[in-house]
Amino acid sequence: MVKKHISLIAIDGPAASGKSTVGRLLAEKLHFLYLDTGCMYRAVTWAALQHKIDLGDETAVTHLARDIQIEIFPENGEADGRHYTVHVDGQDITWALRTPAVDANVSQVSSYLGVRQEMVKRQRAFGERGAVVMVGRDIGTVVMPDAPLKLYITASAEERARRRTRDRSDQGHTADYDRILADVLRRDDIDSNREHSPLRPAADAILIDSTEQPPTMIVNAILDMIQEPVNGNR
Ligand code: DC
Repeated sequence: MVKKHISLIAIDGPAASGKSTVGRLLAEKLHFLYLDTGCMYRAVTWAALQHKIDLGDETAVTHLARDIQIEIFPENGEADGRHYTVHVDGQDITWALRTPAVDANVSQVSSYLGVRQEMVKRQRAFGERGAVVMVGRDIGTVVMPDAPLKLYITASAEERARRRTRDRSDQGHTADYDRILADVLRRDDIDSNREHSPLRPAADAILIDSTEQPPTMIVNAILDMIQEPVNGNR
């Protein structure tokens, strides 16, 4: 069994693969910071929409990415179901990041090299502090290639679409499974085939299929891998 000192866990995988839930639970158990890097690309997308910047204008979007301040705060007892809080230039945009307009445009914004370089720089600054679970698409391959533990979590597209449909209706939004499945497949295609940092597992990542495994089971298996039992208990 591999038991090693872990200061950083890199988790990658496609949309709705369960990676965020696993990452959050792991961070909680280990008392690590949880960093969802997708929210940073979403923050740039939100700001571009807000400033009415043409999302096809790579130069303008890249300048904006360099200019905006993005702050991410850990959960602090808020009652609205959030897992962290995101501010852009001092404004709380945590929920605005989840709107259909941001969903529809974030793949394009995150495909721009200059935007990625800026976000990767900011993500590495978090990683260098240690005690972080970082979740995204390119953490193990590009952002933190020396991470001591890399996980790549996936699930079938149908299962991911079912999860997203359930989440949407739980949040009180209308949710059409077929449309969500089409969107999941479209995003997979863009994220996996883009020129810069495409979604793929690092060569040394542990591959996990979450289609039929609940997040708690995955988390326990990972903790077993990295933690020494205390008095026979986790
Ligand atoms: O995980 P998410 O759905 O919030 O991610 C939003 C978008 O950002 C998605 O299109 C993929 C992209 N992304 C990325 O390119 N690199 C990351 N490290 C995280 C997300």
